[in-house]
Amino acid sequence: MTDLSKLDSDLSAAIAAAGDAASLEAIRVSALGKSGSISDLLKSLGGMSPDERREVGPRINGLRDRVQGLISARKAELDAAELEARLTAERVDLSLPPPPRRRGSVHPTMQVMDEMIAVFAEMGFALAEGPDIETDFNNFTALNFPPKHPAREMHDTFWLPEDERGERKLLRTHTSPVQVRVMNRINEKLPSWIAQGQEPPIRIVVPGRTYRSDSDATHTPMFHQMEGLVIDKGIHMGHLKWTLDTFIARFFETPEVTTRFRPHHFPFTEPSAEMDVGCDRSGNEVKIGQGSDWLEILGCGMVHPNILRTCGLDPDVWQGFAFGFGVDRLGILKYGMPDLRDMFASDSRWLSHYGFSAFQAPNPATGLS
Ligand code: PHE
Repeated sequence: MTDLSKLDSDLSAAIAAAGDAASLEAIRVSALGKSGSISDLLKSLGGMSPDERREVGPRINGLRDRVQGLISARKAELDAAELEARLTAERVDLSLPPPPRRRGSVHPTMQVMDEMIAVFAEMGFALAEGPDIETDFNNFTALNFPPKHPAREMHDTFWLPEDERGERKLLRTHTSPVQVRVMNRINEKLPSWIAQGQEPPIRIVVPGRTYRSDSDATHTPMFHQMEGLVIDKGIHMGHLKWTLDTFIARFFETPEVTTRFRPHHFPFTEPSAEMDVGCDRSGNEVKIGQGSDWLEILGCGMVHPNILRTCGLDPDVWQGFAFGFGVDRLGILKYGMPDLRDMFASDSRWLSHYGFSAFQAPNPATGLS
């Protein structure tokens, strides 16, 4: 069996000389693969006499084990050498700056809402909320909109399909239905994070989403409003005016703001007014607190006695005022953004430019970050 020892020394020499993983694998296949030299020898055992097999078998098996051992030892050597080569060739440059990481930011609408809530909270207002999907009763009827009154059309309402009871719900066109919910105490059926209805005195602000079928540079089909409602004894227009003047001065962080109240009409307030702020429109940006122009920013008025009656309150005992304004609108005014629609475009470049840090230092005027 000189064959065997020649094969042994040939294979050992070849394995020791293999310079990379591929040539080592070629040697393994030529010896131990399906029709490799050692595999063929193992197959030939079947044709031998028992005596022959007893003599040659262990030698062939020994050769196979030895060659297998040599191959894996050489493989380990080659792997180690390759790793060593890579470690010396590749170097991590620790002086390189890390790749930039995108940071999230607070959306301007949410920032502005928080600023507004902080100002009202300081004046003793609590927070109330209501659902976006409303009944015709809460959104219109209870607020003194007569049936078929053109004011209903004015709001360009998004109606939902009729439900099984023949009722058509709607996407609320303003936050005023929450006045009804709180005075009527229908909010008691809602989850606890929504303000519970309450007996007067009532002092609430209501931030929320509102919807009207309208879209241009100053109108979006979904926008945010903040409603205010105060119900107490002896409440008059003077309280309304002081509250709104104080809010505007604190929100715009300037005592210079001038305001004026113009008579207006809302079905749910009497008398009703629109409030304008003094501004300068000479540049391409509207500036608050300077100039001689006026900009309409909110609707307000004394709560109509019919609303109080509908909500079970005696207008001879309780009086109140209410107001409502567009949050996004006041936001673009305060932070000088040119187009209202950008607020809703979800353009990440715009958001990282105008967005606010969640970790900003508290504002000394409001205590809010
Ligand atoms: N709900 C009115 C609107 O959306 C605003 C308003 C609220 C007016 C409260 C008066 C009182 O236009």
